[in-house]
Amino acid sequence: MNDMRVAEARMQQQTDTKISARGVQVHYGDKHALKDVNVDILDKTVTAFIGPSGCGKSTFLRCINRMNDTIDICRVAGRIALDGEDIYDRRVDPVQLRARVGMVFQKPNPFPKSIYDNVAYGPRIHGLARNRAELDEIVEKSLRGAALWNEVKDRLNDPGTGLSGGQQQRLCIARAVATQPEVLLMDEPCSALDPIATGQIEELIDQLRTEFSLVIVTHSMQQAARVSQKTAFFHLGNLVEYGSTEDIFTNPRDPRTESYISGRIG
Ligand SMILES: Nc1ncnc2c1ncn2[C@@H]1O[C@H](COP(=O)(O)OP(=O)(O)O)[C@@H](O)[C@H]1O
Ligand SMILES: [Mg+2]
Repeated sequence: MNDMRVAEARMQQQTDTKISARGVQVHYGDKHALKDVNVDILDKTVTAFIGPSGCGKSTFLRCINRMNDTIDICRVAGRIALDGEDIYDRRVDPVQLRARVGMVFQKPNPFPKSIYDNVAYGPRIHGLARNRAELDEIVEKSLRGAALWNEVKDRLNDPGTGLSGGQQQRLCIARAVATQPEVLLMDEPCSALDPIATGQIEELIDQLRTEFSLVIVTHSMQQAARVSQKTAFFHLGNLVEYGSTEDIFTNPRDPRTESYISGRIG
């Protein structure tokens, strides 16, 4: 390759990286929960975090939108950049950051409000709509984006908590999508759902990746293989191996990854 092509390739690589983590360490009091994590998470890609329970998957996920800030004994060190900007910089407002880097939890947690207000909440506090018509538009678009619109369009004023588990999880996704996030973090989003609802969420994840970057923690290797293009394997606080999902599952380089995917650890 000539110099021009090398420079171009490098540029391409840079634009593709959405989140870069360097030397990330996390302690809960004396407990060293994450040890020197380095990874580049790509834009418009689904990245799966896998590994045995307690290996640090949720801890690392929470570093990416500073949810660990809310845990008193938690200390985060190292650098995490979103589009090249340090998210732990003093000038970064964590509330603004969490609109750009949304999160969906294991257990669906809609607010005790109407379906409409669950989705309108973020756009309202971030001033994304100038009037009711614009807000209506955002709510509809977000519910469509979360593949829920057709099921709820006639009962937008009903409480969000009255929906089925799978619908509640899609409502939480709609709530996150409503602030036009650049990254969506999902911590075992299907673990409380039945297989049909799980399939719907997985299909949705595949659609959303055309719009932004998704990171999903999952204890199901089948799910990681179905939904992700990249996989990171964690073990005892270390990010042991990161690569294309296909490589991780068919040709792991590290014996710990091999043991985990073949069912010997975890
Ligand atoms: N809020 C917390 N306080 C103290 N220790 C925690 C807390 N959250 C997680 N840990 C510890 O950090 C380690 C990693 O946990 P976690 O990130 O939840 O793992 P995973 O999501 O992979 O199951 C575990 O040893 C866990 O006990
Ligand atoms: Mg976890």
